[in-house]
Amino acid sequence: MNNFSQDLLVWYNENKRNLPWRDTQDPYKIWLSEIILQQTRVEQGRAYYEKFLRTFSNVHEMAEATEKEILNLWQGLGYYSRARNLHKASRQVVNDYRGEFPDSFQELKKLKGVGPYTAAAIASFAFGERVPVVDGNVYRFLGRYLELDEPVNTPKAYKLFFEAARELMERVDPAQFNQAVMECGALICKPKNVQCMLCPVQESCGAFNAGRVDQYPVKPVKTKVQNRYLYYFIVEEESSVLLKLRNEKGIWQHLYEFPCIETTKPLSLVGLTDKAIDQDFIQSRKSVLTEIGEERLHKLSHRNLHARFFQVTQAQPDRDSVFVPYDDLKEYPLSRLMDRFIEEEKPHYYAQK
Ligand code: ADE
Repeated sequence: MNNFSQDLLVWYNENKRNLPWRDTQDPYKIWLSEIILQQTRVEQGRAYYEKFLRTFSNVHEMAEATEKEILNLWQGLGYYSRARNLHKASRQVVNDYRGEFPDSFQELKKLKGVGPYTAAAIASFAFGERVPVVDGNVYRFLGRYLELDEPVNTPKAYKLFFEAARELMERVDPAQFNQAVMECGALICKPKNVQCMLCPVQESCGAFNAGRVDQYPVKPVKTKVQNRYLYYFIVEEESSVLLKLRNEKGIWQHLYEFPCIETTKPLSLVGLTDKAIDQDFIQSRKSVLTEIGEERLHKLSHRNLHARFFQVTQAQPDRDSVFVPYDDLKEYPLSRLMDRFIEEEKPHYYAQK
């Protein structure tokens, strides 16, 4: 065993957090925790993990659920395609693998939503396969330790870090090694407030010795972020509000939202009214648009969404929309933007209750 792995594992065994998914070799539980943890931090992830397990104690129960049930449980985590893939993968395991998770890195990658990182986590934690996880923690920790100057998050960088980690993990328990690298990345070798003084491998760390810890991980060249303008219409009827299922491909596909006009340039109120008339959503300028709250900025990796909300009188709902009582809204999967808006602004009817 090299010094790196030895020192790291000693540290891990003394300092690891007690996390529920660490007490198990059940691939279902490991898979579930890893998918959730790709979306949120450990503290919040724990609650979601426990909620999912209480509802679906095994992969069969999840496969039998409807997509809507899954999306509802996922609510608040965002990036709903992960939740849809979770569901699809559970059905794959039941239908294609007779309810048993595949036990190899290569085969696990065939499951929906299971990329190389998740496949490596399941293969090593549940089945002891000698395959390294490469995630943000690993890019940072090993990037610093070995001074790897390749910009991260590219196929080339993945290969480089994968091979580097594989060498370091020779002759140690793969599950322990992977957990330890992630834990040290999360607790010590952090993006900010890095704790070099507590680090078990400080002495042999390249970046520490060169005084270059803050230069890692090497950032990939940025893609340009595009602006999109979303104008939401709040149409109320007694205690109900109009919702529409979003069908276009994208992160909010299959979620409900208020009817929306989306543009690449900002619109004036007059421009917006014209557009709504064009689309037959309202009939004339007699409809009144009253803005609720202020513009909300919702940032995605590749988009800045600028969302504004308008209460509308005299709208003409199209056939795809439904009036939903405010009290039943929680049964409809909504985007995080919608969730927050309703929670914070509580439109018209809500306010009067
Ligand atoms: N983040 C992602 N996977 C994790 C795990 N298994 N333990 C702790 N943090 C994690």
